[in-house]
Amino acid sequence: MTQVAQREINLLDKYPRSKRPIEERGNSITPEHREIARRFDRNFFDGDRLTGYGGYNYHPRFWQETVKRFRDHYQLKPDARILDVGCGKGFMLHDFHELMPEATVQGIDISRYAIENAMEDMRPFVSVGDAQTLPFEDNSFDLVISINTVHNLPLKNCKVALQEIERVTSAHAFVTMDAWRNEREKENMLKWNLTALTYMHVDEWVQLFDEIGYTHDYYWFIAE
Ligand SMILES: C[S@@+](CC[C@H](N)C(=O)[O-])C[C@H]1O[C@@H](n2cnc3c(N)ncnc32)[C@H](O)[C@@H]1O
Repeated sequence: MTQVAQREINLLDKYPRSKRPIEERGNSITPEHREIARRFDRNFFDGDRLTGYGGYNYHPRFWQETVKRFRDHYQLKPDARILDVGCGKGFMLHDFHELMPEATVQGIDISRYAIENAMEDMRPFVSVGDAQTLPFEDNSFDLVISINTVHNLPLKNCKVALQEIERVTSAHAFVTMDAWRNEREKENMLKWNLTALTYMHVDEWVQLFDEIGYTHDYYWFIAE
């Protein structure tokens, strides 16, 4: 049996980059802002920038190129089964569905607000759920993606969520985590972070993946 090793790979290189006002946010964020953000309700998605996105709206330029990148990299068949863990309002799934109309797309998110305000055409395919207990059989998907989501759990639960991703994929998975490669990036992350409860050096993440048996792909969210 060939075991495909987990790999660091930047599959978000087509995602538009924006300049992050790290210092400004670091000086303004309070524990109360973090507490509000972590509820993942309207305040996180469509409230003030200090408690989240400051408006979480669909734009084709966000995901269209990235979903092509996923399809091509993983050589997905037209009828592939794709799961997004922490799907928010379903923006990425919407673009997958447009690109691959025969694919099965599914999303779960802990946020009732996000699911209730999901894109109209994605509502049949998204539901409220926790990454720690994915409501799917083993090997149900060809590709499971989870962008900036499982690090929102405390360490123990974050490990469980990664094992769940491992369990429900039959072929591929890609996750991104809050991380740093040096002291400067670590300081920036501590200033920028609003919701994550598990964040660490990239080498420590790789160790953790090995320890819990996550065998698929990963990349980082780095506050630069
Ligand atoms: C930074 S947002 C990313 C959303 C989306 N993946 C994206 O890239 O636009 C993090 C998401 O994780 C969701 N989330 C947080 N904890 C979760 C959990 N335990 N299970 C599922 N979703 C969770 C939040 O509601 C939110 O939609």
